[in-house]
Amino acid sequence: MSAVKIKEGVYWVGSVDWNSKSFHGHTYTTKRGTTYNSYLVVDEKIALIDSVYTPFSEELIANIREVVPLEKIDYMVVNHVERDHSGSVPEIMKYCPKAKVIGTEKCKLGMNRNYYCNWEWQTVKTGDKISLGKNTLAFVEAPMLHWPDSMFTYIPELELLLPNDAFGQHISTSKRFDDEIDQCELMDEAAAYYANILLPFSPLVSRKIEEVVKMGIKINMIAPSHGIIWRKDPMKIINAYIKWAKNETTSKVVIAYETMWKSTEIMAKTIGDGITSTGVKVVISDVSTADKTDVVKEMLDAKGFLIGSSTHGNDMLPSIAGFMAFLKDMKPKGRIGAAFGSYGWGGGAAKSIEGKLTEMGVEIAAPLIQCQFVPDKDEMKKLFEYGVEFGKKIKTV
Ligand code: FEO
Repeated sequence: MSAVKIKEGVYWVGSVDWNSKSFHGHTYTTKRGTTYNSYLVVDEKIALIDSVYTPFSEELIANIREVVPLEKIDYMVVNHVERDHSGSVPEIMKYCPKAKVIGTEKCKLGMNRNYYCNWEWQTVKTGDKISLGKNTLAFVEAPMLHWPDSMFTYIPELELLLPNDAFGQHISTSKRFDDEIDQCELMDEAAAYYANILLPFSPLVSRKIEEVVKMGIKINMIAPSHGIIWRKDPMKIINAYIKWAKNETTSKVVIAYETMWKSTEIMAKTIGDGITSTGVKVVISDVSTADKTDVVKEMLDAKGFLIGSSTHGNDMLPSIAGFMAFLKDMKPKGRIGAAFGSYGWGGGAAKSIEGKLTEMGVEIAAPLIQCQFVPDKDEMKKLFEYGVEFGKKIKTV
């Protein structure tokens, strides 16, 4: 894609990765692809804000050259070390070796450990500014949003926030702005992004938004480093982040399970029917085949987590075990849950799941429930009633 002017003197010069299907070591399914957004600020001095993932260096270079000669770049701002944004910095710096690289102290450390290059650095912290002429680059450190080195760049004269990963979404599209794409698709991907990347850092998200509000920063455009640019309604994504960061939940239960011979699946669906009869929304997923990124997104606003597995070797099955390990890192707060599962000759999975739920801070709201082999008629009734009781608890907490 060609360069796109997003504000007077500011150009999107990034790349669209239509074929990306997974991210972060396959922990994130990018079913709609992604973009790596890089922004060129052209003033008396010229700054490039972030680069793109290494395989897209040539596209970045071609886009910059549509606007200015690459050799004219004065500042290479690195908001974040991760390679999807910094991967093309070494290539860019070959053309403008005298440009200063700008980033936090931790960013400098991380870049040195990634690329071992001898660039001239100017490290910055919150409150530091660089004048480009008419416009100013102002920096706000944003540690753990989502890495220790992360930083936002802000251009006060244009009321433009360039927050790198924050407020992003993994969407590949030929459109660049929020008012040009389907709103449900946009918010769906923004929620998946928050749930799978930023949820563990929710207290820091809340604090950073409060800090930015106190600083009196005016924002009329947010240009993140993935996905579309928020120009029509930047408050829409800020308000969504405020809500998600509070761990606000709704009357909804996610039942995630893995089954060996379908008995645990029967249990999941029967418990789900009981919950549904109370009016509470239920989402059921077999994590061995489901898109786990979507399951975690569904959990973002779910009050209840019910996790099930058949017993295999006295413990849970491997896909649900991997899912629980990932979920633990997400640190969901204020949830209630329970464990269930079938077994043949010896149980163990449900107990193990209950232990994992407790470790991650989920309040156990019902004793674990198990069935030997295939649930009989009485057990089916009990499973339904179990769901009814769980649904009632969801409605009262
Ligand atoms: Fe933390 Fe988009 O990289």
